[in-house]
Amino acid sequence: MSPPDRPSVVVIGGTGATGREIVAALEEAAPGTRLAIASRRADQSVGGRETFRLDVKSPDQVSLARLAEFDLAVIALGPFHAIGPAAHLACLKAGTDALDIIDCPRTAKAVLALRGEAVDGGVRLLTGMGLNPGLSTLLLDRLLGADPPSHVRVRLFAGGDEPAGRAATSMMIEQFRDEVEVLDSGRITSVPAADDGDDSFYRFPDDREPVLALPCTSAEPVLLADRSAPEDLPGRIDYRIHFQGLTRGVARVLRRSSRWRGARVDNMLAQLFLLLHGLARRNPVNRSSSVLSVDAGPHGRISASGQTTFGLTARFAAAISVLLLQGGLRCGPGVHAMSDDVADPEELSRMLTRLGVRIGHG
Ligand SMILES: NC(=O)c1ccc[n+]([C@@H]2O[C@H](COP(=O)([O-])OP(=O)(O)OC[C@H]3O[C@@H](n4cnc5c(N)ncnc54)[C@H](OP(=O)(O)O)[C@@H]3O)[C@@H](O)[C@H]2O)c1
Repeated sequence: MSPPDRPSVVVIGGTGATGREIVAALEEAAPGTRLAIASRRADQSVGGRETFRLDVKSPDQVSLARLAEFDLAVIALGPFHAIGPAAHLACLKAGTDALDIIDCPRTAKAVLALRGEAVDGGVRLLTGMGLNPGLSTLLLDRLLGADPPSHVRVRLFAGGDEPAGRAATSMMIEQFRDEVEVLDSGRITSVPAADDGDDSFYRFPDDREPVLALPCTSAEPVLLADRSAPEDLPGRIDYRIHFQGLTRGVARVLRRSSRWRGARVDNMLAQLFLLLHGLARRNPVNRSSSVLSVDAGPHGRISASGQTTFGLTARFAAAISVLLLQGGLRCGPGVHAMSDDVADPEELSRMLTRLGVRIGHG
């Protein structure tokens, strides 16, 4: 533990693409914080920052002792579908509060199952504190009134000229399957991934033309179904993404090949996609920022923009981190996803605005 006047945070996976953004966002949001980076290969070359080696899949006593020195661990490693809750278990062993940016439904379920251990250990595990779930959940809660809408569409425009990371690319590929999960009457339901049809184009705020929006699976339904009674949730919530440059044809090939692809092929595909992304990035039509819209039709729409996908993720994680460090969270030991019971939505929104996230209705 740092002295009370100097809070401390370690970013696990802080050498990765999203992790680096989280470190930068924390420097901006919480100046004066002792900030360290941990990963399997973390060394002093990371901008002269404090670093230590930690493999969450087989943490040794030395790395667990280092982890125990921090008030908070931000879990920014990945891919989560391959790592599961290993980092959370390491934080539980070390007795360190943790916050993650999970985007994998299976891992979300595994993290929720740690509730008893977290309560017993006096540890707070904050789960799904990235862009989706996390920022999207905050926007959803701001839209929901006493009478929840029948259908909410969560849509992301991911700019083609944005940083990319290997784990996030791997997760993107893993998501393209024949079926996607939606939340239907409070229950997680698998439905065919319809790349065609009425809902396959979406017009984001400030755009004149709708763009292709491909169905994807999110970890958010797992967390929403866990926290709320079905009658408090919209009748249906589904998720679609527009990756600039990704065509419907490529999405179809990915979906079909998901029937036989294994981890090795997925890794090779992630490498290939990263390479192609790097080559195509500077195409003049590509945007260098993202837009997240949560659209409840006649009940209104609310969007967040002004940053890249990783930038929005990092700023949301940083804002929650600051609330935790300042004693501003409303929750005790246990596992908690984003909700009004965890963080004051007004305070969180103000903090996000200060960090350069634009949130607006319409
Ligand atoms: N929820 C959201 O909205 C959201 C948005 C963006 C990204 N994400 C997720 O964020 C994660 C990071 O994505 P990325 O593309 O930025 O990652 P990345 O660039 O591939 O970096 C992965 C990081 O994880 C570390 N790591 C991997 N295995 C580890 C282990 N066993 N122990 C300790 N550290 C380990 C790596 O360092 P070493 O190799 O040195 O170990 C590296 O720092 C992904 O899971 C992605 O899906 C979520």
